[in-house]
Parts: sequence; C-alpha cells; structure tokens
Amino acid sequence: MTKILYLKSSPRGDASYSTRVADHAIAELRQAHPGAETVERDLGREKPFHIDADYLKALGTPEGERNGEARARVAHADALIDELLAADTVVISVAMINFAIPSTLKSWIDQVARAGRTFRYDEKGQPHGLATGKRVILVQAHGGRYCNTQAQSIDFVTPYLRHMLGFMGMTDVEVVHVEGTIFGEEVAEKAVIAGIERARGHASVRHAA
Ligand SMILES: Cc1cc2nc3c(=O)[nH]c(=O)nc-3n(C[C@H](O)[C@H](O)[C@H](O)COP(=O)(O)O)c2cc1C
Repeated sequence: MTKILYLKSSPRGDASYSTRVADHAIAELRQAHPGAETVERDLGREKPFHIDADYLKALGTPEGERNGEARARVAHADALIDELLAADTVVISVAMINFAIPSTLKSWIDQVARAGRTFRYDEKGQPHGLATGKRVILVQAHGGRYCNTQAQSIDFVTPYLRHMLGFMGMTDVEVVHVEGTIFGEEVAEKAVIAGIERARGHASVRHAA
C-alpha cells in the first residue's frame, strides 16, 4: 500500500502558499492511490524540539538508563524516523525564511538524520543514505525570485534540502517553486495557480499506472 508522509513547515499557518500548493499534490496522489495511507505533520504548529545536550546524551545512553524527558524525546524522534522510513512518497511544503528553511523543518531534520537509521558511514568514511526508495516532492514558496536569476546563489533552501535528503538516501526529488509571493496578491495568486499545475503534474505522472 502507498504510504505518504506529508510535512508542512510554513510558520504562516493557513496563509501559507506552499501548503496550499502541496495540498493539491496530496489530493492528486490520493486520487491515484485511493487506499493510500497519509501521515500528516504540521511542523509549524507542532514545533519539533531543538536537539540539545540532554537529548544528544540520551541518544548515546542505553534505553533503560535514559531519564524521563530525554527518554520521551528520543522516543518521539524514533517515531519520526519510523514515519519517514515507512513512507514511499514524501511531500514537504517549505516557506523560505531568511533565505533558508523554517527552523521547525530544520529541527525535524536534526531528529531524523540519525546514524544507523537514515545514514551510515562505511569503513572508508563514505556516507550512505539508508532512507532509500522514496520519491520526494518539495513545494517551496519564496517571497522573492531566485530560479534562473542572479539571486539563485542566495536560495539556500533548494541546495540544502537536496543535499540533506540525498545524504539520507532520497535522491528522487522534484521541486515545485512558487516564487514572488511578496509582490502583491495578484502575483502570488498567479504563482500559486502555476505551482498547483506543476505539483499536480508531478504527483500524477509516475503514479497514474
Ligand atoms: C520571517 C520571514 C522571513 C522571510 N524571509 C524571506 C527571505 O529571506 N527571502 C524571501 O524571498 N522571502 C522571505 N520571506 C517571504 C516568504 O518566503 C514568503 O512569504 C513565502 O510565501 C512563505 O511561504 P508560505 O507562503 O508557504 O508561508 C520571509 C517571510 C517571513 C515571514
């Protein structure tokens, strides 16, 4: 059965353009796979915890010896990793915040990037991703315009997410950009409509069979 993991990460709640577009990709995937199981997490609302010294110490401590809070945090991160590994399709809506990803999405990555679960290093020091066999659809909303412009080099969202997902084994990544959302409602709406078309196209192409 198809398992979809849908992560929303805009801090702008219902006003988010990336989430609006990603919702259409999800609808398309569900139409192509009526029995699909979807796990949805709104990271902007859930606010995943920041990793800290107690958490990192707990990771290196045998399970039975972890104290209450650290134990719960590791268990939560374990559950996030399980969700990611179980999914065959991952859809992530991302808002560009200060040229990078929302801090909540970074916290999710900090929790799921775990040696031995989502990546490993071999004896030569080469990394190998373990979260393989998934397709990823990224829907990114940017206030400005970066794609194929002089500003492309200051879009730290696209290269970082491609690298980090690839590091964990997810190399089949399609990106839908929704750009120029700060240039007024009309421009934003046009970008959203174009984004919905592309997102639906990506979602339906290889899943139509
Ligand atoms: C706190 C904050 C910081 C932002 N920083 C940037 C930025 O560095 N570059 C940019 O192009 N847009 C920036 N924006 C605009 C957002 O990228 C834009 O509103 C986008 O539509 C957000 O995605 P969303 O609609 O899915 O929430 C920022 C918005 C907020 C609220």
